[in-house]
Amino acid sequence: MKPELQIRVQRYGWDKAAAYYEQSWKEQLKPAQERVLELADLKPGEAVLETACGTGLVTEKIARAVAPGGRVIATDLSGEMTQITADRLKKTSEITSSVIRADAEELPLDEQTTDAAICALGIMYYPDPLKGLKEMHRVLKPGGRTAVVIWGERRNCGWADIFPIVDKRVASDVCPMFFQQGTGDTLEKTMQLAGFEDIRCERKKQVLNFKDEETTVMAAFSGGPVALAYQKFDEETKQGAHQEYLESISSFRNGSGYSIPGEFVLATARKT
Ligand SMILES: C[S@@+](CC[C@H](N)C(=O)[O-])C[C@H]1O[C@@H](n2cnc3c(N)ncnc32)[C@H](O)[C@@H]1O
Repeated sequence: MKPELQIRVQRYGWDKAAAYYEQSWKEQLKPAQERVLELADLKPGEAVLETACGTGLVTEKIARAVAPGGRVIATDLSGEMTQITADRLKKTSEITSSVIRADAEELPLDEQTTDAAICALGIMYYPDPLKGLKEMHRVLKPGGRTAVVIWGERRNCGWADIFPIVDKRVASDVCPMFFQQGTGDTLEKTMQLAGFEDIRCERKKQVLNFKDEETTVMAAFSGGPVALAYQKFDEETKQGAHQEYLESISSFRNGSGYSIPGEFVLATARKT
């Protein structure tokens, strides 16, 4: 898929997913989000960039951590997502913040302006993750630090068949690079190429619990990156895709719901 098309699929897909995102993923992603914030070790007064901020679940916590006197600049490709983040910050934060709709690979921000740069679960969707990491590096002040989290290896993420199931129905790759950076030491190497030093990576296993078939299917199809392709399916295609997905995760059935294994890769690094 051409990068420009991937950007459009992601932008408008996440616009569609925005309304379902938190009910599908808020609890599931909490441990990874909390760990990335712990690794970032933010201090009051710091200026922080966040890319791919989504609905602002992490942004709100960044704003709390840097208060008083700090600043947060949150960016995301999806206008629906940035709107939700901006509304959330208005209600919960007293510090200076700006929320900008922007591609993480081309940030409309000056270089060397933030103390930390954070990205939770966004890098898998960029056409060029190296470009996205270089942008975070560019915006950091010398001595600044980054903390990121992505999904891990395909074989450790039990829900991974969602991509081929949707791809074959649209004859395209909806998320072609999804597991690339989470495989082996790829993320570490990409961060090195982006100019970071003192890179430390860790893997974290995480079981995703869904209470019933409906919430399982909603999280996979409506609340994430395949949402744009999915909402164009007719009812029969939707039902067929649901069935195939539920079969692909049948070994993770747990009572009336599912407990699906997943894995995250977290990394911290420094700009010298
Ligand atoms: C799984 S959500 C993560 C949201 C949030 N960071 C969190 O942890 O809840 C992925 C986000 O990445 C954003 N995204 C995808 N491609 C992007 C790009 N090229 N630039 C910026 N954001 C992007 C989507 O719009 C979506 O909001």
